[in-house]
Amino acid sequence: MINAPRGTNDILPPESAKWNYIESKAKYIFDLYNYDEIRTPIFEYTELFQRGIGEATDIVEKEMYTFEDKSGRSLTLRPEGTASVVRSFLENKIYGQAQPTKYFYIGPMFRYERPQAGRYRQFYQLGVEVFGTQDPMVDAEVIAVGMRYMDILGLKDLQLYINSIGCPECRPQYLENLTEYLKENKEDLCNDCKNRIDKNPLRVLDCKNKSCQTVIKNAPKITEHLCEECETHFNSLQKNLKSINIEYKIDPTLVRGLDYYTKTAFEVKYEGLGAQDTIFGGGRYDKLADEIGSKDIPGIGFALGIERLLLTLDKQEIEIPIDKSIDIYLTTIGKKAKISCFELLEEFRKKGIKAEIDYQDRSVGGQMKSADRMNATYTVIIGENELESGKATVRNMKNGEEQEIKLESIVESIEKMI
Ligand code: HAM
Repeated sequence: MINAPRGTNDILPPESAKWNYIESKAKYIFDLYNYDEIRTPIFEYTELFQRGIGEATDIVEKEMYTFEDKSGRSLTLRPEGTASVVRSFLENKIYGQAQPTKYFYIGPMFRYERPQAGRYRQFYQLGVEVFGTQDPMVDAEVIAVGMRYMDILGLKDLQLYINSIGCPECRPQYLENLTEYLKENKEDLCNDCKNRIDKNPLRVLDCKNKSCQTVIKNAPKITEHLCEECETHFNSLQKNLKSINIEYKIDPTLVRGLDYYTKTAFEVKYEGLGAQDTIFGGGRYDKLADEIGSKDIPGIGFALGIERLLLTLDKQEIEIPIDKSIDIYLTTIGKKAKISCFELLEEFRKKGIKAEIDYQDRSVGGQMKSADRMNATYTVIIGENELESGKATVRNMKNGEEQEIKLESIVESIEKMI
């Protein structure tokens, strides 16, 4: 027996119907906000993620599925969608069209992480990216897309955290202050964070270790070191969020795990999820297009983990409506009737009527049980007698009512009844 690789999941019925439901709701929201779908390859040249996400991030350092293809090129299964979408935007010269460009995507991502509840090695994200504008109203719109999506799914008690992590103008000075502070308090930091001081000091702010937390609490705050442009942008974002009644909390330690962010960073959490409590996160990345393709194009977006969303729906005991019924079950007696009904079955389906038949040679009783299991609205029993008389009795399984119907017009009759 060969099992699925560790950290991957099979999505089986009836669970797969839940996936379809939440994806269709997402597509409804994306369409409402006028975002168009983009599909990019599952793998890209490794360099894209190294340059885009950042060499000193956990993703690039430890978590990528990287391999050589048969001609010796280094490829990587995408660990996230943003770098690929930016690459595609540049490669296809979409910047030549009227801006902004508003995209959404849904698909699998791959990270070699230690699997646990809400964290997998193949997981699914749905996300949006907007290019070509620095308007803080768009930052608020992107957050609104995510929050309205949570609303229509019926989710409650979610917390939106926002921060501004500055830009190349103000961040270097802040990083200097932070590094100095962290060095002064090095003894109280975990080993990972001791190493991060010189490599990626911002990431220390993200550490969940208890003793690090005390150091982080008193660390200099980026929001107090923003340049005028970043501060104005952050203030406008907050005004815009308030104007559309989106509640938020400012978290100056929110830094995200990818290096491409500038200005706005945000996360939406549900405490009840435990350790992996971020449902979606994102932010602005005004320098990423420059990093990847030497083009100065601002961008902002977020991505949401579908598995975590489903876990949250589960925890909040939100029932997903799954239509698990068929319109009519054709119960057959004898070979001749089965052959006739097989043809009839297709006639029903041509008319968009969901019909089913027995392929296991079950008894009439067994077939009726199948009809019940499939939650059939109508059943009809067809044997030699019915074929000869050209009539059959259709039973409404919901109220027990029966009526005789001519076989030659049964499809039209059922069509009228459902
Ligand atoms: P991220 O925070 O790395 O951001 O991932 C976004 C979401 O994907 C997380 O909040 C989580 O729900 C889900 N996720 C991440 N890793 C895993 C995993 N191993 N297992 C299950 N779910 C996971 C990004 O990926 C950015 N590209 C978001 C973005 C878009 N920023 C701007 N635009």
